[in-house]
Amino acid sequence: MRVLVLGGGGREHALCWSIAQSPLLEKLYCAPGNAGIAAVAECTALDPDSDEAVIAFCQRESIDLLVIGPEAPLAAGVSDAARAADIRVFGPSRAAAMLEISKTFTKNICDASGAPTAAYAAFDLPEDAKAHVRQTGAPIVVKADGLAAGKGVIVAETEADALAAIDHIFDGPGGASVVLEEKLMGEEASFFILTDGKTILPLAGAQDHKRAYDGDDGPNTGGMGAYSPTPSLTPMLEQAALEQIVTPILTEMTARGTPYGGILYVGLMLTADGPKLIEINARFGDPECQCILPRLKTDLLPVLAACADETLAGTTLDWRNETCITVVMAAKGYPGSYDKGDPIGGLTDAATDPKVTVFHAGTKADGDQTLANGGRVLGITALGQDIAEARSRAYSAIKAIDWPGGFHRTDIGWRAL
Ligand code: AMP
Ligand code: GLY
Repeated sequence: MRVLVLGGGGREHALCWSIAQSPLLEKLYCAPGNAGIAAVAECTALDPDSDEAVIAFCQRESIDLLVIGPEAPLAAGVSDAARAADIRVFGPSRAAAMLEISKTFTKNICDASGAPTAAYAAFDLPEDAKAHVRQTGAPIVVKADGLAAGKGVIVAETEADALAAIDHIFDGPGGASVVLEEKLMGEEASFFILTDGKTILPLAGAQDHKRAYDGDDGPNTGGMGAYSPTPSLTPMLEQAALEQIVTPILTEMTARGTPYGGILYVGLMLTADGPKLIEINARFGDPECQCILPRLKTDLLPVLAACADETLAGTTLDWRNETCITVVMAAKGYPGSYDKGDPIGGLTDAATDPKVTVFHAGTKADGDQTLANGGRVLGITALGQDIAEARSRAYSAIKAIDWPGGFHRTDIGWRAL
């Protein structure tokens, strides 16, 4: 198979690394890719959000499967345009990706399907949202309705913080309207499901660490580390989430004539009343993808193709009996402003242990040097018999990395330990 992966983060490195191991692979491209992806795929500079550029490339290179990593190409309609051009696509239609694109859309789907989620109200005007906050008080969760690159949610503990958050969101990207939500209490878990619109195949659970600093302190980020499986998502809770959340939502999407196909990322809060939906994403989680795929023994490529072909029924997945952890190394300053262009040393030494893989998230090659080129830059990933072993491998590997401009959390996996 000739495959094109869209994206250039740690998630796409993990996807390319996995696909590159498939005996069915003939040629792998990635757009735009990064310095790490270039070791397993041919990186190409085309714009992943441009349907014209993607389609022209797929036709010119006889691509058999287009795999869409991030949400932006989905929101830009690339999956629909490619399918209309007879290209086989792993990734939902834009209509189905509305589950990620709009929080109010997902809340409406929850209402219609009975999937448990936080109580909410949506507002188009900041004054109305503020009046609601003054009435209900804090704590309250303030969310941008639209895509905001993981930065559109503020869990406000005080009324003053909530009012400031409303102004912040209306001034930022994705801020045409705001959703105010009840704060749910419990442990969070990410649950990933593959589906072709007909068959539902649970993939794995993972635990992300969204806050920037140790002790789950500091601002929310795209994710500073993750591990999989997560003991918090017990088989019983996973079953409850499938029955009460995943199946009703997917059934509702099909009933509306917009069946969901691809990977469904279900963000859960495990509350005292059972799992409740926090959010849905229409893509793999990042860094969660980096700690899920190394556990998978089954060839990923035909599974992705089966999702695209609606032939997922009968597919089973075989897993390594190990835990996997990813520790993100980010540029100092992230998730705020940060410098780019610092050279990173020690990448080869860090990955000498065969149980360790260094996924690149934001890197760029400059001759034989690797330069930091983003907020989240590396995902140091390690397998182990349990979380403690995986974690100590990952942190030993980090010691080999020479990058004074970077930082990482030192407590990834603490909840499971
Ligand atoms: P989201 O982008 O919707 O996943 O929100 C980002 C993060 O904000 C989540 O991972 C949670 O940590 C937190 N969060 C979002 N919604 C809620 C909620 N209703 N109650 C408590 N925490 C929440
Ligand atoms: N790690 C969170 C996300 O991918 O949205």
